Amino acid sequence: MPEQSMIIEMMLDGNPSTYVLGPLAGLELGNFVPAPPPVYIIDQVVAQLHPDWIQQIQNNCTDAKQNTLLVPGGESLKTMAHLEKIYQWLGDQAVARDATIVAVGGGSVLDLVGFAASTWRRGVNFVSIPTTLLAMVDAALGGKTAINTAGLKNPVGSFHPARGILADVGFLSTLTCNDWRDGMAELIKTAIIGDERLFAHLYAFRADLAKVLGPSPAEEPIPGILGALPWRQWVGRAASVKASLVNRDFKEAGARKALNLGHTLGHALEAYSHEHSHPLSHGQAVSIGMAVVFRIAAERNFCSLSHALQVLELLEACGLPITWPAPPLDRLEILLAGDKKTSAREGLSWVLPERIGKVNVHAKVASKELLRWLDAPAAD
Ligand SMILES: NC(=O)c1ccc[n+]([C@@H]2O[C@H](COP(=O)([O-])OP(=O)(O)OC[C@H]3O[C@@H](n4cnc5c(N)ncnc54)[C@H](O)[C@@H]3O)[C@@H](O)[C@H]2O)c1
Repeated sequence: MPEQSMIIEMMLDGNPSTYVLGPLAGLELGNFVPAPPPVYIIDQVVAQLHPDWIQQIQNNCTDAKQNTLLVPGGESLKTMAHLEKIYQWLGDQAVARDATIVAVGGGSVLDLVGFAASTWRRGVNFVSIPTTLLAMVDAALGGKTAINTAGLKNPVGSFHPARGILADVGFLSTLTCNDWRDGMAELIKTAIIGDERLFAHLYAFRADLAKVLGPSPAEEPIPGILGALPWRQWVGRAASVKASLVNRDFKEAGARKALNLGHTLGHALEAYSHEHSHPLSHGQAVSIGMAVVFRIAAERNFCSLSHALQVLELLEACGLPITWPAPPLDRLEILLAGDKKTSAREGLSWVLPERIGKVNVHAKVASKELLRWLDAPAAD
């Protein structure tokens, strides 16, 4: 793939949504802001680590005074309390119906700010600048927004596509190893559901991935990682898979459900782990969820054992967990029943792999079957 910008055009429910991937993507901001100046809601860690670049993006868009709110990143941001603070700030800034809100950060910031943008004055223009690998390959595309409430993950949300999504892998230079691993979980998922060749490419690089992601301290950035592997190519391919799915099925009536591979169990484990002392990140939870459904699919002869083993091997090479202490069965069932993908008529549908590149989105899995592939419950 040449080193120039890649542009992916989506049309979501009649609304154009453009993904720009490239080293100068942020400078395209003005093209997606019909009535400048926009307001910015920025992950404070990103603002601290990339001040010059953010300043340049803001200055390039408009000369007017910048209105910027800094917010803490991470899953704990996605609450009603933080949403209320954002509404308060939007009110203080007199953000009008024709204004644009620009979110800069990882999936947590994009989910929360996207929800605020979709509800503020019944919906204002939204632009996102994803700064994590997970956000660049997944969260930023497709217009889903969400917050956590009622002890559940993402039960409240909306569909509100960003008009522009400006992805520059340069932001990733400061990601901690854990955040790289989280992004890898979604990158691998995307390859599994829609791009066999991307999966084969990732798998071929498993030793290199293990070298950079395996031994690195979880909370530290990884020096030299950006130049060591073909990130831009991988991000572009994964973003294309997601764009194609959401283009075909914006409201998740069918094809888009494939993106939930590993997420049904993953969300339940993630929510459960946050009630206890060892919280799982989203990517870790999805990794365990994918490992479990591949094991179930292989056991049912639904997918080949060799594909399941390749997936487990790649996840482990990236330093991702493939099993976890099981929650008590009754708690697990409550968490699964609260899954937003549960339909009142059909119950909960699972995404089960048939092979790398193809999944079944209408499978059924019994909770007891899940427990077989999780560790014994922790003493906690
Ligand atoms: N809407 C969707 O379609 C969708 C899809 C997948 C995931 N998600 C959501 O995304 C969220 C996870 O997002 P995430 O993995 O991007 O994590 P995140 O947004 O929680 O960020 C993780 C950490 O990285 C920091 N960070 C962000 N950019 C950085 C950078 N460039 N350098 C250094 N640190 C940086 C943040 O401050 C935070 O501490 C979850 O809440 C998940 O539900 C949404």
